[in-house]
Amino acid sequence: MRKKLVAGNWKMHGSLRQNAALLEQLKFGIAEVQCDVAVCVPYPFLAQVQSVLAGTQLLWGAQSVSEHESGAFTGEVSAAMLREFGCCYALVGHSERRSLFGESDALVAAKFVAAQKAGLVPILCLGESLVEREAGQTKAVVSRQLRAVIDVAGICGLMSAVVAYEPVWAIGTGVTASPAQAQEVHAAIRAQVGGLDGELATGLRILYGGSVKPQNAAELFKQADIDGGLIGGAALVAEDFLAICLAAN
Ligand code: 13P
Repeated sequence: MRKKLVAGNWKMHGSLRQNAALLEQLKFGIAEVQCDVAVCVPYPFLAQVQSVLAGTQLLWGAQSVSEHESGAFTGEVSAAMLREFGCCYALVGHSERRSLFGESDALVAAKFVAAQKAGLVPILCLGESLVEREAGQTKAVVSRQLRAVIDVAGICGLMSAVVAYEPVWAIGTGVTASPAQAQEVHAAIRAQVGGLDGELATGLRILYGGSVKPQNAAELFKQADIDGGLIGGAALVAEDFLAICLAAN
């Protein structure tokens, strides 16, 4: 049995004051939650999150990471730095990074490897755009994105990693993939990994992201190949985020 994971992605939201209230509420509510829970926060909040969440069952991470170990890369943050702030996870290849910041499959793969090398667990985000879905290319796109990482990291790279399927058209739109639509892609991802290593595929956690709300979380999490969620908007409201975590129980 794969233990479910619910990860919040705060994106570029929050302030020290707002976070303090949100984190306290999460700490309070988390006792009833049985799945793994993490929050991926903007870099400047990592120290705050570390000091508030250390010693709790909540884990935390970043939303991206540099592909470089160190050096003259102004504005970048290395995986080793993230480890110093207690990060367990780093998102890599979020669709907003791919589309707004031009991150290619190759760059995402390099970030994945850099994260793992420093001891972070990468959460590799995959997903097709609406145009790609309507052209019937969903599985081809997701498979290409996944293969780019496997080619560089090796199939063993997925041993200590999480995959998140996030259809771009479902992110922040209120339009969620139906449980059946999501399940179909999750199963295809697992089959692709299974073609290379069956045991690894069985243990791989594949999260769904894209307009997950307390109202639709349970139905999504019931699907055979959906092992939790990557939550955007609803992760900013403690009550909603905790309700989603409980739906994964
Ligand atoms: P929403 O839950 O706001 O659709 O965001 C999903 C997402 O991008 C999480 O990484």
